[in-house]
Amino acid sequence: MKRLLVTGASGLLGINLALRELAHREVTGIINSHALSGIPFPVEALDLTLPGRIEHVLADKKPDVVINCAALANIDDCEKEPAKALLTNSTMPGWMAQECHKRGIRLVHLSTDAVFDGLQGGYRETDTPHPLSVYAQTKLDGEKAVLDACPDAVIARVNFYGWSLSGKRSLAEFFYNNLSAGKQVNGFTDVLFCPLFVDHLADVLMRLADSDHSGLFHVVSPVALSKYDFGCRIARVFKLDDRLIKPVSVEDGGLLARRSPNLTLNTDKLRKALQLVLPGVDEGIQAFAGQLANGHPQRIRKFLV
Ligand SMILES: NC(=O)c1ccc[n+]([C@@H]2O[C@H](COP(=O)([O-])OP(=O)(O)OC[C@H]3O[C@@H](n4cnc5c(N)ncnc54)[C@H](OP(=O)(O)O)[C@@H]3O)[C@@H](O)[C@H]2O)c1
Repeated sequence: MKRLLVTGASGLLGINLALRELAHREVTGIINSHALSGIPFPVEALDLTLPGRIEHVLADKKPDVVINCAALANIDDCEKEPAKALLTNSTMPGWMAQECHKRGIRLVHLSTDAVFDGLQGGYRETDTPHPLSVYAQTKLDGEKAVLDACPDAVIARVNFYGWSLSGKRSLAEFFYNNLSAGKQVNGFTDVLFCPLFVDHLADVLMRLADSDHSGLFHVVSPVALSKYDFGCRIARVFKLDDRLIKPVSVEDGGLLARRSPNLTLNTDKLRKALQLVLPGVDEGIQAFAGQLANGHPQRIRKFLV
């Protein structure tokens, strides 16, 4: 069985991808500050930004594939701690790429739609990024560091949602939690994006990992919508009251970091490379709701100590 190392295994993508891949690969997860217990695959707690840690874990675990989900992924935290963001989102991925290249390990690294300023939308991989925040700039620098050190790596620019260990990490959870508690929330009508359900993302990432492709890929839903519309679709699928979502402008959101207004990405390159049809937003939300009915969020929350 092939060995898969998932960094950021306590994060939204890492935990879901690792659990999904368990049936097909020997999975090891790397976590950092969160303690987990009862998790059905081995995890190791390591700060990957400390010198020598990446080298050690790759030598020890000898993975065939690394999916590098570890990041400082909270946009406003990155504004407050730019040096930490640079180390985690740029320097560390560069080290990971160097080591993977040296050892012939397949690397899929995660980046973000936020590398673009969102003035245009429909971005292709060939379009020039223009980051607006510390998070976006450090993720863009991370892309360059990875491709410089390991030209065969895949970099996936993503935007996704799903159930997280904390129950609060994704926008879909935000809408579900608040609407099901009868609380009013803001929904931005002027921020467009293409959110992909995390399991659908995980499947595409593993297909990229198993392919010969390299370089940048936009891995998002083929459907673009505003954050307000996304909330309304969540409400509809879960039969919650969408009148609790107040349509507002992002300018009135009181957010620290600047947000790009139109982060819609073009996925032609991905669809052609893998010959796939990407699932749409409604299909994703249905699967997200199905997981609640099956007890998935309740089960994974128990892993958090
Ligand atoms: N969520 C989205 O919609 C979205 C959108 C665009 C791009 N992305 C990208 O997708 C990737 C996964 O995002 P996510 O939402 O799953 O992230 P997340 O939930 O914030 O999880 C981040 C993970 O990184 C780990 N980590 C942070 N610093 C570390 C360090 N120094 N050493 C080792 N591990 C460390 C964390 O470990 P602990 O929690 O244990 O400390 C956690 O497991 C990231 O690259 C992110 O930039 C996400």
